[in-house]
Amino acid sequence: MSLVGFLQAQNCTTIPASWRHPEARTDSMSPDYYRHIGHVLERGKFDLGFFDDRLAMPDMYRGDHGHTVEHGIRCVKMDPVTVLMTMGMATKHLGLGATCSTTYFEPFDVARTFATVDLMTEGRAAWNVVTSVNDNEARNMGSEHHMAHDERYDQADEFMEVVLGHWDSWDDDAVLVDRKNGVFADPTKVRRLDHDGEHYRSRGPFTVPRSPQGHPVVIQAGSSPRGLAFGARWGELIFAAYGTIENAKVEYAAMKEAATSYGRDPDQMKIASLTFPVVAATRSEAVEKKAAYDELPNEIDQLPLLSEALNFDFASKGMDEAFSDEDLEGLQGMQALRDGVVRRSGIKNPTVRDFIRVSGRGRLGDGWVGSATEIADQLEAWFTEPACDGFVVGPTHIPGAFEDFVDLVVPELQRRGLYREEYTGTTLRDHLGLRMPSLRG
Ligand SMILES: Cc1cc2nc3c(=O)[nH]c(=O)nc-3n(C[C@H](O)[C@H](O)[C@H](O)COP(=O)(O)O)c2cc1C
Repeated sequence: MSLVGFLQAQNCTTIPASWRHPEARTDSMSPDYYRHIGHVLERGKFDLGFFDDRLAMPDMYRGDHGHTVEHGIRCVKMDPVTVLMTMGMATKHLGLGATCSTTYFEPFDVARTFATVDLMTEGRAAWNVVTSVNDNEARNMGSEHHMAHDERYDQADEFMEVVLGHWDSWDDDAVLVDRKNGVFADPTKVRRLDHDGEHYRSRGPFTVPRSPQGHPVVIQAGSSPRGLAFGARWGELIFAAYGTIENAKVEYAAMKEAATSYGRDPDQMKIASLTFPVVAATRSEAVEKKAAYDELPNEIDQLPLLSEALNFDFASKGMDEAFSDEDLEGLQGMQALRDGVVRRSGIKNPTVRDFIRVSGRGRLGDGWVGSATEIADQLEAWFTEPACDGFVVGPTHIPGAFEDFVDLVVPELQRRGLYREEYTGTTLRDHLGLRMPSLRG
């Protein structure tokens, strides 16, 4: 079973109210905060910690950042790669993933940054590929409007060709450092990419040789039909928010099937399902803990997050005003979130209040609550079904949620033989059971 820590280089977890939790650390802008999380995850033998990203704060609601800043609704968003390296320098085994958008950066630059992280962490790096979601990210990055949904995935396909092309342009044994004969590297084992495509031109040769794991692991987490197809083509580690086990079984099998249709070995794609467990020594303690979390959120927390995710100012509609078919069509950020609200509520034209209630965005929701045995039962049931290959563990607050999981649930999983006692390899690919990638030629 793979375990991934869901991390944010920001002032809260994905749950904005988490910074108000009485046991939350208040120094989320200090290196020690991230070093500590790294130590906890490594003590729990996690495969990796992974940082999400967005290129704007959620400031679309009422066209202003006032609420967001005042209430700390994910308003701090530091550069995830820099924070990742802070964690990398404090750990030895833990895999290290960060998110970077294909829409707003050049592929050569992204390829070089992550290849460098991979070398500097001795083969522990991963890149979560996203295409970004809204116009305010565009406004921070030099344009007025975010590209249309499917179009940005088409562009991302070419982005991947360039990145993987560069990553494959040094043979594994190209570097010789043969001082006696004065040969640093074998020039026949380093190639130029000479990419000249619809969206990108990048010549090469690439300037970073291969790492001990070949190249960084590619993560993807799209959930729209186009996003899923993109993940099936390129993703080596897929993050999914499946909801129920029945749905997960179907979606998991479909994703593996889709990878096969791209000529890939489905075992070389791992799927981790997102969960926010609340665990304590006993069930009743866990239930009390959950009830205390549920006191923390403000209603205002959700509206900027919905506006951000759907690229639409939710203040422009009354609470009980229904979205027309045309309005819904215009919600273009995370379309799968929009479609999920319609599907799960059974309401064809939901209101703002329906979006708040059904999406549960920014709230803890009905996560798994219980003793270590009960949480381990759930994880085991999903894993053995199979409904996933592992889990993205989302923290309710930092660092307590990870500490509880590592101290209570991990030993129970180890007792059941479901989870490693020690790291057996050195690279992230070793942890995940992914082969060293072969050169694409
Ligand atoms: C565990 C997890 C982590 C994610 N992290 C990010 C992220 O860092 N940035 C982002 O824009 N989207 C993130 N997403 C959302 C998806 O990657 C994707 O952007 C979103 O679903 C919109 O794409 P889609 O329309 O194809 O679904 C994450 C999703 C999951 C399940």
